[in-house]
Amino acid sequence: MSAPIPQVASLRTVLVTGAAKRLGREIALKLAANGWRVAVHYRDSVEEARQTVADCSRLTPGSQAFRSNLGNETAVRNLLPAVIEAFGQVDAVVNCASTFEHDTAATFSFTAMEKHMRSNAGAAILIAQALHNHITERRKTQPDAGGVVVNLLDQKLWNKTPDFVSYTLSKAALDAANSMLALALRPLVRVVGVAPVMGQHQPLLRGEKLAERSAELPEHHRETDLDTKAAVLLALQEESISGTTLLVEEEVPKDKAQAPVVEPPPAPFVPPARRTGRR
Ligand SMILES: NC(=O)c1ccc[n+]([C@@H]2O[C@H](COP(=O)([O-])OP(=O)(O)OC[C@H]3O[C@@H](n4cnc5c(N)ncnc54)[C@H](OP(=O)(O)O)[C@@H]3O)[C@@H](O)[C@H]2O)c1
Repeated sequence: MSAPIPQVASLRTVLVTGAAKRLGREIALKLAANGWRVAVHYRDSVEEARQTVADCSRLTPGSQAFRSNLGNETAVRNLLPAVIEAFGQVDAVVNCASTFEHDTAATFSFTAMEKHMRSNAGAAILIAQALHNHITERRKTQPDAGGVVVNLLDQKLWNKTPDFVSYTLSKAALDAANSMLALALRPLVRVVGVAPVMGQHQPLLRGEKLAERSAELPEHHRETDLDTKAAVLLALQEESISGTTLLVEEEVPKDKAQAPVVEPPPAPFVPPARRTGRR
């Protein structure tokens, strides 16, 4: 599915994993709209990846698709070198692909945990390692070369629920890796987390449920335009951000807006009566 790649030396190239559809596709389009040449990673969604490549290429020429199963270590290790071979260089990676399968404390298994850990945490770390090696090589001839990794986290980490145990553990591992990698890979590669809330891309939260959830958001969150893809773009472009995570609220349409709930002031503190009697 590759088209001839324009040799434009000034184009910055970003690999977005899981970019065939949903949030990954939106991030890919946002970056392409802002001048990034996008390497579209996918696993099973061949047709959707083809469409994302075509749509990105209309915004910034030269997008190309790369297939890889991120649960397989060899396949993960081969991914960034394949992108470098195709484009000559890579400047950034957005680790967006993720396994998201339901389990609970009652159904948890090592198999489920390992599956989530491999694709959601292990793959992201290996790809960051590969980008660091690539930037180290580039520095030999390009003293200003630098890279950035953005890891998609989840606000579930700050608002835990008892479901999706293996998924949440894998995102907690990625959150820890995010801080450690930022220290380990500096100053060549910045590492930034972006943590969306469950939103319009969440398959378990559509229609009425989404409207309900949206109406619960405080007013200032409803009006924000700092959505996930904008936060990813900010993380890529703002060179002072590393080793931290941007927590993002999904943008909610204004027609879903509701008056904010005003909390009553707290009752004045009344000290308990002093005990005088004996037991
Ligand atoms: N959606 C939300 O509301 C939400 C909320 C909080 C955080 N997030 C985070 O934001 C990111 C994107 O969310 P999303 O809902 O758009 O993701 P998603 O639809 O659940 O998954 C994105 C893609 O990941 C790819 N993928 C899964 N397992 C893979 C594997 N083993 N190897 C290679 N690719 C694999 C799939 O690609 P193929 O289809 O090509 O197989 C899939 O399309 C995720 O990291 C998620 O944790 C999302």
